[in-house]
Amino acid sequence: MERLGKIAAKHNLFIVEDCAQATGAAWGEKKVGAIADVGCFSFFPTKNLGGCGDGGAITTNNADLWDEFKMLREHGSKVRYQHDVMGVNSRLDSLQATILDIKLRYLDHWNHQRAAIAQRYSTLLASIPGIQLPQAPDGGTHVWNQYTILVLDDKRDELRNQLQEKGVSSMVYYPKPLHLQPVFSDFGYQSGQFPIAEQCSHQVLSLPMFPDLTETEQLQVVATLKNCL
Ligand SMILES: Cc1ncc(COP(=O)(O)O)c(C=O)c1O
Repeated sequence: MERLGKIAAKHNLFIVEDCAQATGAAWGEKKVGAIADVGCFSFFPTKNLGGCGDGGAITTNNADLWDEFKMLREHGSKVRYQHDVMGVNSRLDSLQATILDIKLRYLDHWNHQRAAIAQRYSTLLASIPGIQLPQAPDGGTHVWNQYTILVLDDKRDELRNQLQEKGVSSMVYYPKPLHLQPVFSDFGYQSGQFPIAEQCSHQVLSLPMFPDLTETEQLQVVATLKNCL
């Protein structure tokens, strides 16, 4: 983020942090969502702070952007029934807000549980050939929305199928990088232009991860994984 911040300042750009999988994470003393100009959070039920349906939040310290976001989420309207720009209906409903307000009290506790689970995965899966484990860089606080390994040698899909057959679910976040998404085809990017992102999209595999995953369940996941590998 520090390097990106310098580039953005030089070219007069805003940075939007995608905090969807990172609620509660920090870089140094700063929580995500407070590092760049704008932070976007997801409260989708699988996220670290999840509602009972869809929801999200935007954070910013920029008063002009804040005004604009408020207008956009309210049908492009600042003054009731007067619409200045094309907006959307993106208000967080009260029921979700109440649920999130209560769950927020447990966020740090759940994030610590996730960190302990990640630590256990890293210990149990250390030095197994054919996979690469996630690394959390020094200076940051990782909140482990996912524990994502890399499966080498083009074996990811085969491994995922085998795990599924043995009752262990896993997920691929995400199978297609942004530059190859049809919605961005107008930019004209081709396969091969972002080789690391493309390679990761073929190798990533996220293992079961949620705060209440028990040690017994985790041992079962690891034993099955080792067995398949
Ligand atoms: C990294 C990332 N960004 C953005 C999103 C979008 O979140 P939402 O669907 O709540 O807008 C997700 C959700 O899956 C995500 O994982």
